Amino acid sequence: MASQATIWRATVLTLFPDMFPGPLGVSLAGKALASGLWALEARDIRDSATDRHRSVDDTPAGGGPGMVLRADVLAAAIDAADAARDQPKVRPRLLMSPRGRPLTQSRVMELAAGPGALIVCGRFEGIDERVITARGLEEVSIGDYVLSGGEIAAMALIDACVRLLPGVMGKQASGADESFSEGLLEYPQYTRPQEFEGRPIPEILTSGDHAKVAAWRQAEAEALTKARRPDLWTIKAKQKRPKTTTDG
Ligand code: ADE
Repeated sequence: MASQATIWRATVLTLFPDMFPGPLGVSLAGKALASGLWALEARDIRDSATDRHRSVDDTPAGGGPGMVLRADVLAAAIDAADAARDQPKVRPRLLMSPRGRPLTQSRVMELAAGPGALIVCGRFEGIDERVITARGLEEVSIGDYVLSGGEIAAMALIDACVRLLPGVMGKQASGADESFSEGLLEYPQYTRPQEFEGRPIPEILTSGDHAKVAAWRQAEAEALTKARRPDLWTIKAKQKRPKTTTDG
């Protein structure tokens, strides 16, 4: 098992620490958490408020609706989280935000290979821009839709990382064969019964010819990717294209 010093650690800064571990406490991630393969700490941003009312937000400068998370309070929460750890502060600091760069499997793989992450969950209309710069926060989005806060987005990111940690997936395939790791969507899967509501399993899958099965799966994965995710397919096609002198 990984030692305390090297364990993958997620520190989440949130106004709703009770939301954690939530779904991360069950199934694959939950078992791995219980057995010490990774660690999770949810810290309440409100603990860093300094006034009598423990306020963390205020009205936006320049006017407009909603409330903005204060830079001083959030910076203090980040600094307190850093100070609470004896390890060097090398973890990436992420801010879950619909404005961020979209999360990809390759970024997930990078994060999983590192020491963990400090993850700030936004709420309200946003957070004061100055803390993003001052504390070097990397804004990360999990998709082009708006959640009511960053907590569920943080859980999605953590789950995607944790399942890649050594020992977490056990004997299951290491994730090398699944959607995105090859830049393709996953091919269709089937199991018993042999016929379901008049629909048989594609014959090739029960033929016992491994080479033909592999070729069929590859073709299906490519067809699905072309149809559903032309954006991914374009990237894939560019990667496959042999280098020419005009490629730069
Ligand atoms: N917070 C609110 N919406 C979000 C999204 N789509 N991704 C990440 N964080 C968010």
